[in-house]
Amino acid sequence: MENKGYKKGINRREFLQTGAKLTAAGIFAGLGTSRLLAAVGNGPMENPVERITLNNGVKMPVLGFGTLYLNDAVGTNCVADAISLGYRLIDTATIYNNEEAVGAGIKRSGIDRKELFVTSKVWVEDSGYEKAKKAFETSLNKLQLDYLDLYLIHRPRGDVKGSWKAMEELYKEGKIKAIGVSNFTPEQIKNLMADSTVKPTVNQIETHAFFQQPGDLEFLKDNDIKMEAWSPFAQGRNGMFMNEKLAEIGKKYNKTNAQVCLRWHYQRGIVTIPRTSQKAHMQENLNIFDFELSGSDMKTISKLDLNVTQFPEWE
Ligand SMILES: NC(=O)c1ccc[n+]([C@@H]2O[C@H](COP(=O)([O-])OP(=O)(O)OC[C@H]3O[C@@H](n4cnc5c(N)ncnc54)[C@H](OP(=O)(O)O)[C@@H]3O)[C@@H](O)[C@H]2O)c1
Repeated sequence: MENKGYKKGINRREFLQTGAKLTAAGIFAGLGTSRLLAAVGNGPMENPVERITLNNGVKMPVLGFGTLYLNDAVGTNCVADAISLGYRLIDTATIYNNEEAVGAGIKRSGIDRKELFVTSKVWVEDSGYEKAKKAFETSLNKLQLDYLDLYLIHRPRGDVKGSWKAMEELYKEGKIKAIGVSNFTPEQIKNLMADSTVKPTVNQIETHAFFQQPGDLEFLKDNDIKMEAWSPFAQGRNGMFMNEKLAEIGKKYNKTNAQVCLRWHYQRGIVTIPRTSQKAHMQENLNIFDFELSGSDMKTISKLDLNVTQFPEWE
């Protein structure tokens, strides 16, 4: 993955080694990651989450914070905490009914808007040119923002092409920095691209150790569209956090199942947006950049694929 944003004079290897040493010393547990970097003298508030470049040149963090089910005061607190710890990508959607709470969390964090990468999604009932434009403005107002970094068609249902036309216009007006899709198959993406002037930058789909989607990943890579994993832990279904194979691998690196999962996604070139309501888990999930899974560990994880959704109720 592209590695930009590290301060001059420290290369990626040194950066990771410094992080590893500090983690071993237990410092990481007590500090937010940005503050951690400030503490080791690497300059003002460098962020440890590298950014990849989307096909339109926009930079997107490789790891972000999911907000499904994080509503009201809990949502606000979690978003503010996540930002304070170093998360810069925040993923929400109209259907989560929490854009106001997320916006309040962003505001409370006091972060410079330019540092953040905020994603929302247009829901099925709002599909179509007029409705999608209105839904976008509503999302923006609820989030108290004047632009979005990424806006996605949440599901490939309804008037997808009408929504896309609206999004293309909003993109060209600068109100959205990048547009993309979610839950689209390669065929549906090809169909959309055949009729559009702006190529999707991202496809956000269900991806985790039990549903690895290698065909979709290959298609997306071939077309320079970034794959973003939703439910990177499958919400813990099928015993993800207790899985023995993942635990065996984690033991070698002194990492948890959650960290092994996120690192595996990262090494496959996939952006992840894990969700947690616990500050300790927020820190844990950020701490995946100081180790590297070996080729044989990657292979072991690839064998966990059940090739079936863990969310049949959403099909
Ligand atoms: N586009 C779509 O259709 C779509 C669909 C689903 C989700 N999404 C997006 O993807 C995001 C992530 O997916 P998700 O929320 O479904 O689930 P997820 O991130 O796979 O899993 C969340 C669960 O993992 C637990 N967890 C997190 N970190 C942990 C850790 N280090 N150790 C142990 N448990 C941990 C959380 O519990 P605790 O709170 O106790 O930590 C929570 O129960 C969503 O929040 C949403 O933004 C998009």
